Amino acid sequence: MKFHVITFGCQMNVGDSDWLSRSLVAQGLTPAPENEADIFVVNTCSVREKPELKVYSILGRLAEYALEKPDLFIAVGGCVAQQIGTKLWQRFPLVRLVFGADGLAAAPQAILRLITEPGLRISLLDFTDTYPERQAAWPEETVPAQAFVTIMQGCDNFCAYCIVPFVRGRQKSRQSADVVAECRELAARGAREITLLGQNVNSYGLDASGDGVSFATLLHRVAAVEGIARLRFTTSHPKDLSPEVIAAFAELPALCPSLHLPLQSGSDAVLRRMGRKYDAARYLRLVEDLKKARPDISLSTDIIVGFPGETEEDFQQTMDMVRTVGFESGFSFMYNDRPGVAATRFAPKIPVEIKAERLARLQVLLDDLHTAALAARVGTRTEVLVEGASRKPKPGRPSWRGREPGNRVVDFEYAGPGDPTGTFVTVDILEAKKHSLRGKAV
Ligand code: SAH
Ligand code: SF4
Ligand code: F3S
Repeated sequence: MKFHVITFGCQMNVGDSDWLSRSLVAQGLTPAPENEADIFVVNTCSVREKPELKVYSILGRLAEYALEKPDLFIAVGGCVAQQIGTKLWQRFPLVRLVFGADGLAAAPQAILRLITEPGLRISLLDFTDTYPERQAAWPEETVPAQAFVTIMQGCDNFCAYCIVPFVRGRQKSRQSADVVAECRELAARGAREITLLGQNVNSYGLDASGDGVSFATLLHRVAAVEGIARLRFTTSHPKDLSPEVIAAFAELPALCPSLHLPLQSGSDAVLRRMGRKYDAARYLRLVEDLKKARPDISLSTDIIVGFPGETEEDFQQTMDMVRTVGFESGFSFMYNDRPGVAATRFAPKIPVEIKAERLARLQVLLDDLHTAALAARVGTRTEVLVEGASRKPKPGRPSWRGREPGNRVVDFEYAGPGDPTGTFVTVDILEAKKHSLRGKAV
């Protein structure tokens, strides 16, 4: 049987889909392009309305394939599955499995059962008390040089706008020994860079499911794994970013000089109503400490505009913060009511025209900062971990693509020998494009 996985949402979902695919291959199924697959897995996101609606349109589209493939069925996983539950298969009869983040570990077995029992539907929507450890699945001898490792599940923060705690459940840390063992296994199979994943990695180990090892200690243990040359992590909540984690940026050469640190707003009044538990001054102190520990650190962020009650002055404070911090890049979103979250009851709601206008102004600023940061790299020499061929190689143009330590995408010319994928190549940066750098291997 052939399967195809479609993934929406954050890197947690990308990591989850990676494991699920490997696990299905280990069970004897074959990955295939969409037009050849009999089994579809749709791993979903409900953080805003748009990705949720996208899921419904995909499920509608897949129903058309079923006209030619009578055995076709769909498994819907992730946050929309958790949110909507078995109502999904009432609306889309081809859906025969729904699973949430905690049900993922059991999803491969469920899919195998569905193949042999055509009348069956399965729901895996219960939250567990501890991190549901997944069975190791290594169908292939080698893995790509960049790997994701999930270190926790869920979130306890209940930021007023956010659906994640409702659809991912309470925070549950994975045992540190299991995390380190997975990193060793990945390194032995060729991984050189590891990104540790969780909704709030800075509070790793602080829940009942943890084993007392803090996030800073975990960083040291993973950095010590032989073969791991680069370490990253996401996402961080500023309120939990400890001095020990900041110090790790100075102490661990493998820890890359880039950090995604969601600000959400630059206004103290808005941050308070969002329930973020830090103010602008504290955020700026963190930035100062990070830059002291690692002067070349590149910061990126998430920002919500038009949170209920946001005034033009609040928004200006966000713009000022973005300038002061000098973020290299940022994801920015218009506030979106999500079912069940506290902010749906907050007033006044900001009209969509005002949200759109603020978003546009913010995005111009973020674009300018991004352009300036990339331009500042021209003339430098850097190490690129090669991901593969450039997307559109042209004769005489750069033909390989990878990332440098600051997580910037680099396309570069390389005369050989051979295919450098998965290795480090020293590159001189010659040019800055809109979203990437171009250079030449030394
Ligand atoms: N755990 C991560 C982020 C999870 S969601 C963290 O705490 O940083 C990713 C981003 O989506 C958030 O940082 C926020 O900027 C945005 N987001 C979440 N809920 C939203 C909503 N209701 N409307 C608009 N943006 C939202
Ligand atoms: Fe959502 Fe806040 Fe948790 Fe991030 S920390 S997932 S924004 S509730
Ligand atoms: Fe989306 Fe769920 Fe991640 S809501 S952002 S896929 S945790």
